Amino acid sequence: MVSNCLDINEKGNLTIGGVDTVQTAKEFGTPLYVFDEETIREACRSFKKSIDQYYDGNGMVLYASKAFACKEMYRIVGSEGLGIDVVSGGELYTALSVGFPADKIFFHGNNKTLDEIQFAVKNNVGHIVVDNITELNTLNNVAKANGQKVNIMLRIKPGIDAHTHDFIKTGQIDSKFGFALETGEALAAATLATTLSNINLTGMHCHIGSQIFETDPFCLAAVTMIKFLQDIKTETGVTLSELNLGGGFGIKYLESDKPRKYDEFMREVSKSLKAKCEEIEFPVPKIFIEPGRSIIAPAGITLYTIGAIKNIPNVRNYVSIDGGMGDNPRYALYKSSYELVVANKASQPKDFIATVAGKCCESGDLIQENAPIQTPQVGDTLAVLATGAYNYSMASNYNRIPRPAAVMIKDGIARMIINRESYEDLVRNDI
Ligand code: LLP
Repeated sequence: MVSNCLDINEKGNLTIGGVDTVQTAKEFGTPLYVFDEETIREACRSFKKSIDQYYDGNGMVLYASKAFACKEMYRIVGSEGLGIDVVSGGELYTALSVGFPADKIFFHGNNKTLDEIQFAVKNNVGHIVVDNITELNTLNNVAKANGQKVNIMLRIKPGIDAHTHDFIKTGQIDSKFGFALETGEALAAATLATTLSNINLTGMHCHIGSQIFETDPFCLAAVTMIKFLQDIKTETGVTLSELNLGGGFGIKYLESDKPRKYDEFMREVSKSLKAKCEEIEFPVPKIFIEPGRSIIAPAGITLYTIGAIKNIPNVRNYVSIDGGMGDNPRYALYKSSYELVVANKASQPKDFIATVAGKCCESGDLIQENAPIQTPQVGDTLAVLATGAYNYSMASNYNRIPRPAAVMIKDGIARMIINRESYEDLVRNDI
């Protein structure tokens, strides 16, 4: 299966972290997000090990928490010694609420509000990744008013085309994120940043996209950014000592996906980066990376209960589940692929072709079209694999469907980490 934490037990049921998913679905109800803690921790450790190894201890892994944010996730990555990337006041608040060290937080966002900027400055967030000139000036003023000097990086569009879905590409010039290199906008912003009284420009940031399988775009981005650091030095006389290369490492959603080992990515990128530094005699900066999906996606699955099954002769088989685009909008948004397993029949052959539909009042509410699954019956448990990233974090209450609960598996035990929303939760803010 697509993730190492998944297996099939003697009953023929799907297991995650050694726990029977059919049992877990019964115990906690469906839909249910289930995560395996060891898989998360292993991913954190393996990124940390690679960055320490390839940058001689002068690097840091930041978990991009937009992939999956909740208190327990911040506790886990914090206990592994990682920093985090947050992208809203809400993510920042959640992280701070469990005592996440503020100095290890990078605050992103292309349109941070004044409230968010003040909140971040007041809480001494380690770095603010500035997206535009308006933000740069606002931040300088807020820092001045607080009598502080804040560490910042600038978000740069390095003009690199990563081969991924258009909606999750971010490094090209036609992007709402950051300053463009090729127009001179980035250099002008860096120059301005070095002159502002309450700003400490420590380095640059780029992120070229998400779910990327090739190493080349990452290597190219690293080299481009080193060259840019050199240009800044030439222009301003300032040698910046930090470089954040973002996230985007692809994961295995289907058996046919063959992502590179993350260690290979790290090795290749560090080779290119160090070679460029040597060539132009620029000191190797401290390197940050921001993996999100690759830390959490393989650790998570979603369990549903199968309800109505409709065979439309010569058209297709609709298999309806008790969740849908509200808890996983990724197929509706990106036509994302997933592996599906009827959890209580996991050892049986996948001899049925299903279009899995959610319960929203919307024809596009699909989880997958024409996908192989074991022959389903009403009441079966359907597992959608590798849903750890960008599922719960992108969930909505469309049709006033409460968001599912989430449980974490550790040492054979499932513990609740996010309660199931109730109808009362749904009306809590209604007046
Ligand atoms: N750093 C920055 C600045 C980012 O914008 C992102 C993702 C990451 C790191 C983490 O990228 P990752 O390692 O997770 O690929 N909702 C989409 C993905 C959007 C990614 C946005 N930015 C999806 O479901 O595929």
